[in-house]
Amino acid sequence: VARDWLAWHQPYDEDGSSLQQRLAAVQRHLRAILDERPPGPIRVISLCAGQGRDLLGVLAEHPRRSEVSARLVELDPRNVVLARQAVTALDLPGIEVVEGDAALTDAYAGAVPADVVLACGVFGNVTDDDIERTVAHLPSLCATAATVVWTRYPRDAELLPQIDRWFREAGFEQRALEVGADGRRFGVGVHRLAAPPLPFEPGRRLFTFLDDPDPAGTRSPR
Ligand SMILES: C[S@@+](CC[C@H](N)C(=O)[O-])C[C@H]1O[C@@H](n2cnc3c(N)ncnc32)[C@H](O)[C@@H]1O
Repeated sequence: VARDWLAWHQPYDEDGSSLQQRLAAVQRHLRAILDERPPGPIRVISLCAGQGRDLLGVLAEHPRRSEVSARLVELDPRNVVLARQAVTALDLPGIEVVEGDAALTDAYAGAVPADVVLACGVFGNVTDDDIERTVAHLPSLCATAATVVWTRYPRDAELLPQIDRWFREAGFEQRALEVGADGRRFGVGVHRLAAPPLPFEPGRRLFTFLDDPDPAGTRSPR
């Protein structure tokens, strides 16, 4: 059974939900990243952007909002419509919402190299091999010193440190690795590219979403 990716967003509106807490953490990091960027344009891409709540929620009030251009890539047309409505309501002409497959690097042609890459709600829906592959490929979507913000439910104590190692092997340094209040409800990572970026490679598939990545039935933000 395919997941309902519109309904997946509902807990964002439930006070105190894990997903709401995760969003607050992601937005706090994102705000700090934008605060620290040198003056000038800031390019952002969001993989599997959903309704774009993380970036759009931050840009609603951020002083750098007019300097940010972004491409949000999302497959579910219902989420695309909601994201576009939010972009219009917030008057953010630099933000583009593309209905398409975020797993294909072609989706980012013309929008990269990015200064900020959002990969939130991706790693929990793919195999660990795909996480590793995607992380290894990120330097080819990044500009010099770009920052990646990512999330992953901490399925076990080893998973987030493992993802952190994959980032380091790909040339990133860790800026933050945050686990939710009770230690299991969400995980957010922030990594900055310390190595030189790699050339953009069109025509590559980074990951494949699994129908049921969590068969044990843990209800967790992915
Ligand atoms: C777990 S949600 C995360 C949404 C958003 N990034 C967030 O954190 O609020 C995953 C999203 O990925 C979208 N999605 C699934 N497969 C995709 C693909 N191949 N390309 C683009 N989006 C995809 C779903 O429609 C869903 O909105």
